[in-house]
Amino acid sequence: MRPDRSAHRYTLVAIILHWMMALGIAALALIGLAMTHLKLAPMQLFELYQLHKSIGITVFLAAFLRLAWRLTHRPPNLPEAMPSVEKAAATGGHLLLYAFLFALPITGWALVSVSVLNIPTVLYGVLPWPDLPLLSMLDDKAPAEALAKLVHAYGAYVLIGLVAVHAAAALRHHFIIRDDVLKRMLPISRPLPVASPSTKEHSS
Ligand code: HEM
Repeated sequence: MRPDRSAHRYTLVAIILHWMMALGIAALALIGLAMTHLKLAPMQLFELYQLHKSIGITVFLAAFLRLAWRLTHRPPNLPEAMPSVEKAAATGGHLLLYAFLFALPITGWALVSVSVLNIPTVLYGVLPWPDLPLLSMLDDKAPAEALAKLVHAYGAYVLIGLVAVHAAAALRHHFIIRDDVLKRMLPISRPLPVASPSTKEHSS
């Protein structure tokens, strides 16, 4: 792990990955809900599904980069004044977010792999993406497809809930507690005060 020289803000790479993934998840939630709940023309629906799959796989691949960053860098410390129960909640919430960033795209990938319609996934209209090997060879795909749809939809609702709580907590830090927790994840140039080295806890 890289030494903690000035652990008062995230690195540019971490900030770019964070906001790219936030944008991707917001787009996936909106597109996912639109394609499953609106009455759209078949061609529009096909294009939305392909876009949803493309962004979903991009978020999945970005999750590996994010994890690699996290395993090789120490994130900034949480404010010393923060109660330990809140620190534990923040750490737990971040762990859950990481878990969903991997698990949810896998359920989506499983879903298209067991689809009875068997429509190929072509990322952004150019890059063919394979189905999951064992699942795509199932003899009777219909029950697996029904299960995968359920798991993916409820998983998506849980992730949307987690992201909402995560964003609300960041806004509470910024507007109510008035500390630097949100600012250190923003690409602003003004330097932030260096955190106390005595604080052991951290956030992501
Ligand atoms: C973080 C990643 C993802 C999020 C947040 C997400 C979100 C969603 C949401 C909100 C829905 C609508 C659920 C409903 O109300 O029925 C949905 C549906 C769907 N998603 Fe995802 N998704 C993600 C990744 C993926 C991936 C990687 C794939 C495939 C490669 C995928 C394939 C699908 C498909 C095929 C549906 C339609 C299910 C149906 O027809 O009922 N998703 N997704």
